Amino acid sequence: MSRRSRSSAATAAALLLAAVLLHCAADAATDAERRILLDFKSAVTSDPRGALSSWTATGDPCVDFAGVTCDPSTRAVSRLRVHGAGLAGTLAPSLARLSSLESISLFGNRLTATIPLTFAALAPTLRKLNLSRNALSGEIPRFLGAFPLLRLLDLSYNALTGEIPSALFNPCPPRLRYVSLAHNRLSGPVPAGIATCARLAGFDFSYNELTGGLPPRLCAPPELSYVSVRANALSGEISGVESSCRSIDLFDVGSNNFSGPAPFALLAMVNITYFNVSSNAFDGPIPTVAACGARFSYLDASGNRLAGPVPDTLLTNCRSLRVLDLGANALAGDIPPAVGTLRSLSVLRLAGNSAISGSIPPELGGIEMLVTLDLAGLALTGQIPQSLSHCQFLLELNLSGNQLQGTIPDTLNNLTYLKLLDLHSNRLDGGIPLTLGQLTKLDLLDLSENRLTGQIPSELGNLSNLAHFNVSFNDLSGMIPSAQVLQQFGASAFIGNPHLCGPPLNNLCGGGGGGGGAHRKRLGVSVIIVIVAAALILIGICIVCAMNIKAYTRKNNGVEDSKEEEEVLVSESTPIASPGSNAIIGKLVLFSKSLPSRYEDWEAGTKALVDKDCIIGGGSVGTVYKATFENGLSIAVKKLETLGRLENQDEFEHEMGQLGNLSHANLVAFQGYYWSSSMQLLLSEFVGNGSLYDHLHGNRPHSFSEGSSRGGGGQLFWERRFNIALGVARALSYLHHDCRPQILHLNIKSSNIMLDVKYEAKLSDYGLGKLLPILGSIELSKIHASIGYIAPELASQNLRYSDKSDVFSFGVVLLEIVTGRKPVESRGVGAAVVLRDYVREVLEDGTTSDCFDRSMRGFVEAELVQVLKLGLVCTSNTPSSRPSMAEVVQYLESIRASS
Ligand SMILES: *[C@@H]1O[C@H](CO)[C@@H](O)[C@H](O)[C@H]1NC(C)=O
Ligand SMILES: *[C@@H]1O[C@H](CO)[C@@H](O)[C@H](O)[C@H]1NC(C)=O
Ligand SMILES: *[C@@H]1O[C@H](CO)[C@@H](O)[C@H](O)[C@H]1NC(C)=O
Ligand SMILES: *[C@@H]1O[C@H](CO)[C@@H](O)[C@H](O)[C@H]1NC(C)=O
Ligand SMILES: *[C@@H]1O[C@H](CO)[C@@H](O)[C@H](O)[C@H]1NC(C)=O
Ligand SMILES: *[C@@H]1O[C@H](CO)[C@@H](O)[C@H](O)[C@H]1NC(C)=O
Ligand SMILES: *[C@@H]1O[C@H](CO)[C@@H](O)[C@H](O)[C@H]1NC(C)=O
Ligand SMILES: *[C@@H]1O[C@H](CO)[C@@H](O)[C@H](O)[C@H]1NC(C)=O
Repeated sequence: MSRRSRSSAATAAALLLAAVLLHCAADAATDAERRILLDFKSAVTSDPRGALSSWTATGDPCVDFAGVTCDPSTRAVSRLRVHGAGLAGTLAPSLARLSSLESISLFGNRLTATIPLTFAALAPTLRKLNLSRNALSGEIPRFLGAFPLLRLLDLSYNALTGEIPSALFNPCPPRLRYVSLAHNRLSGPVPAGIATCARLAGFDFSYNELTGGLPPRLCAPPELSYVSVRANALSGEISGVESSCRSIDLFDVGSNNFSGPAPFALLAMVNITYFNVSSNAFDGPIPTVAACGARFSYLDASGNRLAGPVPDTLLTNCRSLRVLDLGANALAGDIPPAVGTLRSLSVLRLAGNSAISGSIPPELGGIEMLVTLDLAGLALTGQIPQSLSHCQFLLELNLSGNQLQGTIPDTLNNLTYLKLLDLHSNRLDGGIPLTLGQLTKLDLLDLSENRLTGQIPSELGNLSNLAHFNVSFNDLSGMIPSAQVLQQFGASAFIGNPHLCGPPLNNLCGGGGGGGGAHRKRLGVSVIIVIVAAALILIGICIVCAMNIKAYTRKNNGVEDSKEEEEVLVSESTPIASPGSNAIIGKLVLFSKSLPSRYEDWEAGTKALVDKDCIIGGGSVGTVYKATFENGLSIAVKKLETLGRLENQDEFEHEMGQLGNLSHANLVAFQGYYWSSSMQLLLSEFVGNGSLYDHLHGNRPHSFSEGSSRGGGGQLFWERRFNIALGVARALSYLHHDCRPQILHLNIKSSNIMLDVKYEAKLSDYGLGKLLPILGSIELSKIHASIGYIAPELASQNLRYSDKSDVFSFGVVLLEIVTGRKPVESRGVGAAVVLRDYVREVLEDGTTSDCFDRSMRGFVEAELVQVLKLGLVCTSNTPSSRPSMAEVVQYLESIRASS
């Protein structure tokens, strides 16, 4: 008994001991694993979201370490999973000492360097390795092929290089189901061994630099359902896949260089949903499709050399198609009406098969879910079927580049979601339907190059989302609607319609409005007169003396009105023979309809151009002359003295061309330019009533008749001054916010604000930023005349100017308008009063009315104070605290509205 009990006690003790030992062993293992994991953590150099903050030296990895999972029975670490934590650093080699690790998933971090060679030691246990979306480099370790339990390998979205090791699939890990090596920089062939992976369900080698062909018997793995080698440099024919790919679901070989017949037989596989063979060199016809997988939805065979017709059977058998893209091939024949029976179709693209002809089947109207219809660049004739307006979810309709006739259906307004309507380059006639103005989601409307007639409906001004609009080269007539929505696209959106008029084209509407011109020709939209002129430069005063020009007009059939687009070549010359004379060959381009286009007029006009008496001003970029034509019309001619940062004629012409597109009631209209290598002229509207500076500061030359008192500030009663401020603000707002690219003025001052006879402001010298010497060379002294207007950031060395620099200068002009003082006035030797500081002081002292211009009549004090305050805000030292010009306009308008 006692012996028995002794022995049982001994057994108990032994068991206990064993238990204790076991327990200690477990603890010891966890300890070692903790050290390995902390090792892993210490190889991480950055952990922006603190994903590993729970990994501490005292914690229990199985309990406390986030992302670590242990085997419940052995308490050994079996899984490591840290996703999307942004961990940077490298993979610690010691991780391989976790002897029970089955799964490593570190998707979405920033780990760099190579996969450590020590990982070979994980062979007995590892089932899953997901290192996708890191920054790993180097080659794919070949030892992974010897992992007997490996099921999933995802190394996609890294920077791996070299070939895919053939050892990876030779033999293939027997349980491998899924492997993705996509989006790396792998080269070389697709290893043939992939076809020996008996359990493989999918592989993705897309977006690499693989070359060679696809292995024969690719689909030998019986369960293979996902194959993507998109965007590599693979070539050759794809053969043998048809018979074996029974389980295929997704097949994507797009953007390679495969040739021969495309494997259309795959469309018959039961489970196929996606088939993409686009952008290869497949040729031959699309075969008859005897059967189609019931769930087959995406067919993209665009960008190949497929020929022959679109088979009817494709449409009648593939009933579930959602995307059918056969664009950019060499297909021919008609569009089968059966396409209209594909109820699920949302994208139909046949664009760029220039031999597809016939008409657009009205049956297309039966595709209720259609979102994109792209039939551009075919040889379609006939009308646009009215039934298309049944496709109420259509977002994109591109029928451009066909030979469609008839009118644009006026029921397209039913397509309430339409964003893109491109009908350009057809033979459509009739008017633009008013109802298009209801398609307010449109961001692109291109009706150019048709035969459309009638007016542009003002309703189109409702299309406030338009980012692209073009009605050029039609036969439209009448006035272009004034809506900014349309005006913003500039003249080039309207050119080629000889009977269209009004801005942004520079031809005036109706008969009047010119300068009483004797030759009222029906001119094309952009009359470009190229004058090959010879002119003379006098020694000393470097101004042109005359442009003696003679002309011949190329075979004009004697009828002046015969050509819509007039191009007059004027050549030859009789240079005044004098020492140092120098013939100039140049080019004159006119944007304005109202200018004479005959050389005789220019001969007279340009003679005046050069007279010293005709100098009407000088500016930072050149001298301004007034030139008067025989018919009495005057223009301002600015002779450039600098080309600033412009390098050559092309760049100059580009800049000038952009100016020609601008049009605003408060901008001095730019009318043309002259280029020769030694002289450049800018031609603009002559605004006859002097500048704001002249009126405010009494510096006007003799010519202005009204008001003879000092200055003449008296003529500028408050109403007029306010309107001038508002006009200039609107012009600047137009330049800043409505022009693309944005135009900065960078040289705003009262002497650049011209006044017409009604005292309306017209801003000049805009768009010359590239010509301004300051901005290239920081030589502020050269434009001393503008000092006081210059924003502090322009005067500082780092020169980061923006539209807010213009706001500053405008603010100074506001102060000038209210106070009648110059931006900087000198008070005796060495003392200068800066207007902005002066106004600030006066406002702080509460003696505001002391600073108002005494010669000003008819003002409302409250308005003056508000304008002064606006002027101060605009002249803040910090650009970001200044308002935008759009806000300034709003504010000014509200001042008027509230009083
Ligand atoms: C790898 O992990 C990410 C994140 O969970 C997952 O989206 C991806 O499908 C995984 N890779 C494979 C091949 O399963
Ligand atoms: C098609 O898919 C279904 C469901 O996913 C599957 O059960 C079936 O085995 C697949 N057919 C083939 C031929 O792979
Ligand atoms: C087919 O693949 C190309 C890239 O090769 C891709 O641009 C296109 O969107 C794919 N087509 C479809 C319908 O997904
Ligand atoms: C595609 O293959 C053809 C020959 O089949 C070859 O002439 C052509 O250069 C290849 N194109 C590219 C981009 O590799
Ligand atoms: C319409 O298709 C033509 C020809 O493919 C293309 O040039 C044009 O850019 C397309 N229009 C739009 C708005 O995408
Ligand atoms: C507008 O769309 C609706 C819905 O598809 C359709 O019933 C109606 O006939 C269409 N109207 C016209 C004029 O096409
Ligand atoms: C569209 O514009 C017209 C005229 O320009 C106007 O009468 C009409 O009210 C506008 N419609 C909408 C919905 O804004
Ligand atoms: C409009 O189309 C014409 C002719 O295709 C082109 O010259 C012009 O630049 C286009 N204008 C705009 C604003 O797109």
